[in-house]
Amino acid sequence: MSVEKLSFGALSAGESVEKYVITNKSGAKVSVITYGATIAELFVPDRNGKTEDVLRSFDDLEGFVERCNYQGMTVAPYANRIANAKFTLNGSEYSLIPNEKGVTNLHSAGELSRRVWSAEIVDDHTVRMTIARKDGVGGFPGDMTFSVSFTLTDENELKIEYNAETNADTYINPTNHAYFNLAGQDSDTNADHLIRIEADCFTPVDAFSIPTGELKSVDSTPFDLRAFTRIGDHIDDCEQLALTGGYDHNFCIRGFDGTLRLCATVKEPGSGRMMEVLTDLPGVQFYAGNFLAGALGKGNKPLNKRCSFCLETQFYPDTPNHPNFPSCLVKKGETFRSTTVYRFTTF
Ligand code: GLA
Repeated sequence: MSVEKLSFGALSAGESVEKYVITNKSGAKVSVITYGATIAELFVPDRNGKTEDVLRSFDDLEGFVERCNYQGMTVAPYANRIANAKFTLNGSEYSLIPNEKGVTNLHSAGELSRRVWSAEIVDDHTVRMTIARKDGVGGFPGDMTFSVSFTLTDENELKIEYNAETNADTYINPTNHAYFNLAGQDSDTNADHLIRIEADCFTPVDAFSIPTGELKSVDSTPFDLRAFTRIGDHIDDCEQLALTGGYDHNFCIRGFDGTLRLCATVKEPGSGRMMEVLTDLPGVQFYAGNFLAGALGKGNKPLNKRCSFCLETQFYPDTPNHPNFPSCLVKKGETFRSTTVYRFTTF
């Protein structure tokens, strides 16, 4: 068990970026970089004990800066979309950056994904990254301090713990945007992965990928992933999937009560790798990488459409504009805390 600190280059403005590599006793390892508090690599064993990187992203800082679709990044203060880049809070309207289609706010326009965080080694398993952001940046109220801890346990669990404090009432909804392919770096498709999501309903969307507000039953739809289903089997099969070009939807996690629970399991038959995702949040965005368009990734291989997938734990998209969704309001002086675990085993 160890944590190693390495240089990961510098931004053009001169700010240096560090990489921390946490290795556990079985030889699994995770690398996190201070640019965007980003998970850059995650090596876990297959059924024969062969360890390989299951994250699709970039080898170097230039890739993360120039060609990134949030690969592995911490997204904050608000992950996912806010309709018309606006919300009202305590009677005031707040205008955000309309960075998608000139209308919608997506991923807080990358605010904290594009900054360099401070990092400290907490112990042999954990690195904590911290950043302060100012009231009003990108339209979001509140001076906030975020910290994200990345822990690799000896049981091959990557645990991500979010903590945020604010000096004004605000909405807080951080996530991590890792793109996985459990077959490793040679596979060019997510289609053969088997996925199960612990959700009886999902949030259908409009043409801007904004939830209509309905919590729709997954019964008799391609969103019924309650039993293991090949990702490729029904990915283009209905009008909702046509709107988003494949799975890119929030699933409402069964039994949400703020405690840690299993929300998704993915198995990759070729390698025997299995990933379980646990969270204390109410939702998980299953995004099948439909917008990936061949940017050069690790080993100079293109990150093609659907070469990987994301399971982004979160409050539902556009929560500030939907009083019927679980609230992500954090009041002045309160502390936001949340945990997500990606657990790796084999079958
Ligand atoms: C999220 C969204 C997707 C896409 C990616 C980033 O997961 O739901 O639609 O925008 O981020 O490319």
